[in-house]
Amino acid sequence: MAQVLSDEQIEAFHRDGFAVVHDMVGPESRRRLMERAVELVEQWQPTGEQTVFTTEEQERTSNREFLSSGSSIWCFFESEAFDERGELRQPKHLSINKIGHAQHDLDPIFSQFSYTDDLAGVAADIGMADALALQSMYIFKQPGIGGEVGCHQDSTFLYTDPLTVTGFWFALEDATLDNGCLWAAPGAHRDPLRKVFRRLGDDDAGTEFEVLDPSPLPEAPADLVPLEVPAGTMVLLDGRLPHWSDVNRSEKSRHAYTLHCISESAEYPSWNWLQRPADMPLRRLDRCDRA
Ligand code: FE2
Repeated sequence: MAQVLSDEQIEAFHRDGFAVVHDMVGPESRRRLMERAVELVEQWQPTGEQTVFTTEEQERTSNREFLSSGSSIWCFFESEAFDERGELRQPKHLSINKIGHAQHDLDPIFSQFSYTDDLAGVAADIGMADALALQSMYIFKQPGIGGEVGCHQDSTFLYTDPLTVTGFWFALEDATLDNGCLWAAPGAHRDPLRKVFRRLGDDDAGTEFEVLDPSPLPEAPADLVPLEVPAGTMVLLDGRLPHWSDVNRSEKSRHAYTLHCISESAEYPSWNWLQRPADMPLRRLDRCDRA
């Protein structure tokens, strides 16, 4: 398979735990994803309780919709989306924090974007020629209310043995200091994984964090560097790299799409929160039947 990344980008990924790749997504592809995301929100009918996504641990722990969203397309509200009476303060499509977590397999537009020779080539370039697409998120970072995402390591939430999860993060709009760009701790992917997020049973049984290493994660934002990137940029993230993004109080949204991949050769434990049913196996980036 032909090399997609430059030698410098591959070196940066291994040295820093992340690599910034400009001009990876053209304007037409970005427009298609952004329009589709709004359509998915408009079509989505919440059942039962509204599902809010925050990185506050308790709110995420035992939400049935969250725990089953590894094999579905679900919309999670911003925590500041509602007023004191529980009514939305703004239209629905401006109230959603993210869409997750299987649109890369269930939606044709997102599937077409996610399973490409280019992305399979990127994965091979960084040493994962057998990459499986595990999870996807469409992140809105809404104007005014886009929530902070606390400093974390992705391997906490998507664990494999050995650790292989790698994030492919695509800026669909400019990501700046004002609208809540990513921040990361260069080189800190060589430090240990601090904790894992485990499900306690089926979708109703909840979850818990298990501490593996009590040393603190880098302090945000003091110990991190901002990754301000123009629309169309891909940021590759090692699963052990501590990263963070701030609240968005600006008037501009910061839409991004992320795809998280793991190596087919790694063990995927049954206690990971994200479990897929037997009739929905994970697919290799390089071997997928493409539309
Ligand atoms: Fe993350």
